[in-house]
Amino acid sequence: MYTYMKRPLIAGNWKMNTSPAEGIALYKTFLEGKKKGGFRQELEWLVLPPFTHLAGLQNLGDIQVGAQNCSHQSKGAFTGEVSVDMLRDLGCRYVLVGHSERRQYFKEEEEELTGKVALLLESNCIPIFCIGETWEEREKGSTETVLERQIQEVFGHFKAISSEVVFAYEPVWAIGTGKTASVEQAQAAHAFIRQVWTRFVGENKAQSTRILYGGSMKPDNAEGLLSQKDIDGGLIGGAALDAEAFLNIARQFPK
Ligand code: 13P
Repeated sequence: MYTYMKRPLIAGNWKMNTSPAEGIALYKTFLEGKKKGGFRQELEWLVLPPFTHLAGLQNLGDIQVGAQNCSHQSKGAFTGEVSVDMLRDLGCRYVLVGHSERRQYFKEEEEELTGKVALLLESNCIPIFCIGETWEEREKGSTETVLERQIQEVFGHFKAISSEVVFAYEPVWAIGTGKTASVEQAQAAHAFIRQVWTRFVGENKAQSTRILYGGSMKPDNAEGLLSQKDIDGGLIGGAALDAEAFLNIARQFPK
């Protein structure tokens, strides 16, 4: 059964930054800021710190804590890997899958990504599945082909998808570069992703699937992006390490 409501989601991907102690301090600053209000009430808050921070951040407050990655194996002799069950035990419900940095630097491809999604869905966790084109692909006019392939090569392996999946559209050329997709580029990509997703889960579920934008989102460009019809939240990197910036992005969700 598909039982969640489409709440806007703000997620901060800390990547490989902060010490565990700095992470706790940052998290507490978010909690303080959040208490001051001025945010859309149903906004869902999430931070994605490094694995080493998860235990220390558990039960500190009402901002959810998720993970940036998980193993595509369920358990066993896989030195250095962290399983979905371990993450669930630490209270993680959301896990990023297929971030472009994992695809690019760790060569994650179809088989691993599919394994991760399968384990997460089996465990009632929610994959935040990241997709996006490079600048060369955009210039060649192949953005849609790339997005469709990235969805198909993983979700094409599943017979029926009944649990929640969140997408993050992160154009590779906008990540950490200070270049943001224009409102029109982002909205067009999100609408296309939703259209492709309709083939997998049908119209109703596709309409209620959240698609986040990520790539140099900042307080001064968030409002335009977040007011688009098919943009249901943000996946924020650099600005999520600056408490004031993250809170100010959260304030830009349309009321
Ligand atoms: P930046 O916000 O630093 O561009 O990073 C985006 C991102 O990769 C989030 O996952």
